[in-house]
Amino acid sequence: MAFDYTYSERAAGMRPSPIRELFKLIQRPGMISFAGGLPDPAIFPVDEFAACGDVLRSKGPEALQYGATEGYRPLVLDIAGRMEPLLGRQVTPEEIVISAGSQQVMDMLSRVLIDPGDVIVAEAPTYPGALHTFRAAGARFALVPCDGDGMQTDRLAEVIERCRLAIGRLPKLIYTIINFSNPSGACLPEARRRQMAEIAARFGIPVLEDDPYGELRYSGERIPTLFSMASGGVLYASSFSKVLAPGVRVAWAVGDADLIRKMVIAKQGMDLCTSVVAQVLVAEYCRRGHLDGHLAKIRTHYAAKAAAMGAALREHLPSDEVSFSEPTGGFFFWVRLASDGQELFRRAVNEGVAFLPGETCYPEAGETVGEPHDGRPFARLCFTFAQPNEIVEGTKRLARALSRS
Ligand SMILES: Cc1ncc(COP(=O)(O)O)c(C=O)c1O
Repeated sequence: MAFDYTYSERAAGMRPSPIRELFKLIQRPGMISFAGGLPDPAIFPVDEFAACGDVLRSKGPEALQYGATEGYRPLVLDIAGRMEPLLGRQVTPEEIVISAGSQQVMDMLSRVLIDPGDVIVAEAPTYPGALHTFRAAGARFALVPCDGDGMQTDRLAEVIERCRLAIGRLPKLIYTIINFSNPSGACLPEARRRQMAEIAARFGIPVLEDDPYGELRYSGERIPTLFSMASGGVLYASSFSKVLAPGVRVAWAVGDADLIRKMVIAKQGMDLCTSVVAQVLVAEYCRRGHLDGHLAKIRTHYAAKAAAMGAALREHLPSDEVSFSEPTGGFFFWVRLASDGQELFRRAVNEGVAFLPGETCYPEAGETVGEPHDGRPFARLCFTFAQPNEIVEGTKRLARALSRS
């Protein structure tokens, strides 16, 4: 007989990650996937990374011991150095924590900032994994609409004020993906970043600037970070997942020392420390100077894939049923549909191609404070994972699925 567990209230409210559930569906042989937000495994620097394994021998037992919860010091220092031009000032090790993926940054931050019922301001659409973690902390969401340039920051103050009216207190956090957003691909212009930083400071609301795609710009000039525009109150997070490989599970966050200290304490209760083996390998990979060379290579590689998917979408999909803009970085095409994305997803999977239905990128009406947003007429297509022939064939299959509506 199955054991009868009495689950916590928190577990009762948990739902499986929609993305993980989709992954199960699309693992059929022959399926072409534009669904996961994944880098191209064909370009993982396997040999260079494996060669860094020598360091495990030279470090000896140190690499196999528990490390500091804050992170492996040489990696912390490397990240501090690389962050300086991005963040506009020198950052100290006390302002950095290394995490098991930037997903864990959201978890740590939720544990130290969010009480059940608190509200998080997010752009709509937003990263479903963030919704999953924040939801698990009992958060609700106030949504700021987006256009092709990302969050419409001229609506931000109004959304915050409406939240204050609705629940009697301010939102606890603003969550934003400023560069080549997941899912919309949009890159927030400088003036909007300045406006967001100004509004966040005026209301005294902290910001999580989630930036795993910032290094993956394929055209145009880098835009200053929100962190560099604020004098505190911004937690900047990035990750090796998209620029090296997601399986290494190494990411980092930079923010005010007091907040980082609190997050480190929360992390002590999660995993004691991020895998020291993984951190030692990543630190060695960076120390040998491989990361910069790899970045240059993947930028060229992904720019070509973005162009290939743009061309395939234009050639094969009916322009009266889909519209999209060309991303200038990151991993995604965000496609507006004339029909329901979930319905199309079912037909597409039957044709042998998968994407992420837009609905997963919006909180549900019941967890939204203020106006809910309708994600049904959207689809997120990842252009980095599929191989060039699959990009063309997958788009043709998508065209067939659209013609069956
Ligand atoms: C915007 C955003 N933040 C965070 C993550 C999580 O990345 P990691 O693998 O570092 O946990 C992802 C992964 O898709 C992402 O797109």
